[in-house]
Amino acid sequence: TQPVVVAIDGPAGSGKSSVSKQVARRLGYGYLDTGAAYRALAWHALEHGVDTSDASSVLDVVGDFAFGIALDPDAYSVWVGETDVTRAIREPRVSDAVSGVARVPAVRQSVNAMFRSLVAGSGYAGVVIEGRDITTVVAPDAPVRILLTAAPEVRAARRVGEVVSQDAASVAAALHRRDAADSTVVDFMSAAPGVVVVDSTQLDFEGTVDAVLAVVREGL
Ligand code: C5P
Repeated sequence: TQPVVVAIDGPAGSGKSSVSKQVARRLGYGYLDTGAAYRALAWHALEHGVDTSDASSVLDVVGDFAFGIALDPDAYSVWVGETDVTRAIREPRVSDAVSGVARVPAVRQSVNAMFRSLVAGSGYAGVVIEGRDITTVVAPDAPVRILLTAAPEVRAARRVGEVVSQDAASVAAALHRRDAADSTVVDFMSAAPGVVVVDSTQLDFEGTVDAVLAVVREGL
């Protein structure tokens, strides 16, 4: 049988990744970070000297993109071929390039096919899948679909705490630039019909995890 899917979408800095990972732990589920695949592809393209704003050049390197990701929330790691890129994909140069890669429709199709087979072969009873288009495109029939949001200034402040190599103003500017670019491709700022909004603006980490788990319990 197919694993149960908990689908979580949201903008950058919404706390999506850490919350989704913790929700997966609490449920004994796998955790799939779909943004990591787009980031890994952007990293792969940059390694090949590809101009990531040029769709056809990006498509040239999709063919030999060997993506690997651990679905165990306690052993999170991301690979391209033999290279562990878990840390490298968080670098600002990758964050700046990723939207260009993610807006190529053929890239999205091939990455989505990869997600479906990863989930189907995961061996878990359930998988928490996190991204931008999970509730609408990747798993529109999931029994639990959540949009995790937070006020823009709160998202920027959280992200500033994570990125050490840049000043606060450039982190906030980069985050807003990326959201603006991404939202031309997928609408992850408003909830599709049937998608439950969890707003974490006033919640701390554990409070957000509990709010998401409450929605999961309703849906399953
Ligand atoms: O979630 P994260 O910020 O790591 O995602 C990195 C990028 O991957 C996003 O800025 C977006 O361009 C792309 N993405 C996407 N669809 C998803 C997940 C991520 O387009 N489901």
